Amino acid sequence: MTVAALPISPHPAVDGGLQLEVTNVSPQTDSIVSITLADPSFRKLPSYVPGSHLVVQYGEEGVNAYSLTGSGNAPSEYAISVLRVEDGAGGSRAMHRLAVGDRVYVSRPRSAFAPASTATHHLLVAAGIGITPVLSHARAAAERGTTSSLIYVYRPGSGAHVDEARELLGSALTECSNRDSFQEVLTEQLTKQGVGTHLYVCGPNAFMDSVLDQARAAGWAEARLHSEAFGAAELDEGEPFTVNLVRSGLTLDVPAGVSLLETLEKAGKTIPNMCRKGICGECVLPVLRGTPQHRDLYLTEQEKAGNTTMMCCVSRSEDPEMELDL
Ligand code: FES
Repeated sequence: MTVAALPISPHPAVDGGLQLEVTNVSPQTDSIVSITLADPSFRKLPSYVPGSHLVVQYGEEGVNAYSLTGSGNAPSEYAISVLRVEDGAGGSRAMHRLAVGDRVYVSRPRSAFAPASTATHHLLVAAGIGITPVLSHARAAAERGTTSSLIYVYRPGSGAHVDEARELLGSALTECSNRDSFQEVLTEQLTKQGVGTHLYVCGPNAFMDSVLDQARAAGWAEARLHSEAFGAAELDEGEPFTVNLVRSGLTLDVPAGVSLLETLEKAGKTIPNMCRKGICGECVLPVLRGTPQHRDLYLTEQEKAGNTTMMCCVSRSEDPEMELDL
């Protein structure tokens, strides 16, 4: 067996993290593989909050974030599942090439999709590979004695972790393979839940937006809604907006399909950055006015709710105009 060489040095986004060994690789579907990572000396790994993700380095310069599928309680291994994206930047294809015995640099787990401690029930909604963080939530809820239910949408034959979800949730799992059946279940669940229920959704952006909008229309308070995007690869081009740089006295237009970071760079601003995927936290900017549309995986939910900072490589503006302390 040939063990792939570790990169010469860890990427800054995983610096201060861990060097782990691949202990298992198992296909979930034709395009999704589950990878288990453990300490080469069998030491326990840091615990994590359910719904956390791990940044994994691939090659010398690439990093991607993947949701951890375990409950996070005193783990001896970290498990992630990776969807192969053929036209992506190459990270998922590199992950699919990993074999048992390979070593990788990873960050410590980061939480940006935590369960609400006050929730009396967790309603989980996932599409496709979006199953991974909500599986973590379902496992943690089962361990802690909190109830959860899951609506899982996947194309026939392409569902990952289906058997685990069935075993874990039993009749609290609803599997949907088409839009109509999903819509029917979602409407019913959104209208019958008590006010102690929190909603967690993960999937493509349009899917999440639709679920969250329907929850709002059904009277769910914003504080009960939680979502996690897949990462930069799935981001849409967004709406155009205008940004005022208060200290520089500059006003810039950010067109659809162009990031705020690119716009600032074009205007001659030097903004520290590393991953350009909303993962590493380097490109953070202070917001003075306006509501950022947070699309990163770095800020915590509380930081996002505070709306005083944003990651300019992926995040945009909810409003037509915003002001930055720059
Ligand atoms: S450059 Fe890494 S989060 Fe923006």
